[in-house]
Amino acid sequence: MRLLVFSARDYDRRYLDLANHARSQPHAIDYTDAHLSADTAALAAGYEAVCVFVNDRLDADVLARLHRGGTRLLLLRCAGFNQLDVPAAIAQGLQIARVPAYSPHAVAEHAVALLLSLNRHLHRAFNRTRENDFRLDGLEGFDLYGKTVGVIGAGRIGAAFAGIMLGFGCRVCIHDPLPLPADLLARGATATTLPDLLAASDVISLHCPLTPATHHVIDRRALSQMRAGVTLINTSRGGLLDTRAVIAALKAGRIGALGLDVYEQEEQLFFDDHSSSVVTDDVLQRLLTFPNVVVTGHQGFFTREALATIAETTLRNLDDYASGQLALSPNRLPLN
Ligand code: NAI
Repeated sequence: MRLLVFSARDYDRRYLDLANHARSQPHAIDYTDAHLSADTAALAAGYEAVCVFVNDRLDADVLARLHRGGTRLLLLRCAGFNQLDVPAAIAQGLQIARVPAYSPHAVAEHAVALLLSLNRHLHRAFNRTRENDFRLDGLEGFDLYGKTVGVIGAGRIGAAFAGIMLGFGCRVCIHDPLPLPADLLARGATATTLPDLLAASDVISLHCPLTPATHHVIDRRALSQMRAGVTLINTSRGGLLDTRAVIAALKAGRIGALGLDVYEQEEQLFFDDHSSSVVTDDVLQRLLTFPNVVVTGHQGFFTREALATIAETTLRNLDDYASGQLALSPNRLPLN
């Protein structure tokens, strides 16, 4: 099967080639570092399958162009699918598969890394000690032990994050429309409403998907309900936060610290090197000026284990499509 991989970086090629060469019948894979958009969709002409990542554009126009070029299968090498117009893809007769669970631990551990970096000011200590400045002023943190951690969304990643926080000796409260995993309840986690979680938590971490219902779930009103000095972590999707409202809360001192791995307008910036150009996104640039904000460029998934699983599952989805088995796969979209 001919596959074109969009937004391909060196690590994508490495892990996909490794998984492909291990197959008895390898696929014919080509790579382009171009992001998928209306301007680049023509590159896929003649490829029955295309593979895309989180910031590729998959709107109705792009999907129609792909279909005209002969594409019939979309392979998302990610868990989230908010970038895809699913009804438009179905209308075009495209089949869709994703990688729903490659390593929830990778993202959960990255959320913890952001939390610890912010709380113990590691990002500032790193710069200080490199300048032989060993003062501690301004680096005071707080014990996580005994603090209340609110988790919004306890699916695979949120549950892994909640489990780690329970191990730190935190009180963990969770908001999720679905029943909570029994093991978390047995370990002392509690289910709560969103307003109660906002009011009670010293730390809040977002792990729900971006949908119309969760867009800007953290807005000015939600921020006003939080404890003053709250630490807010978002490794899920940028659109969950109203970034301008968050900046206002940082300026007012209501947010004590903010850790982001995702950003509302990230598709213009993330995964590429802009260090030699003028970045015109004033909202992100303002965020980067705060001493109590750490931003990483959507690297929560970026571990060896996750990359290997993403590559293997993506090619297994392609195998399933080639053998007519994709309809039976739990990785196919839409969900039902
Ligand atoms: P999942 O589908 O296992 O869990 C999502 C949970 O959110 C479900 O339990 C669901 O009931 C809950 N939820 C849905 N609506 C909600 C609402 N309004 N309030 C509270 N909870 C709600 O998904 P998984 O694998 O845990 O991934 C979560 C998100 O993490 C993905 O949607 C994606 O956006 C993000 N992600 C980020 C990565 C990164 O590299 N930073 C990598 C992978 C995923």
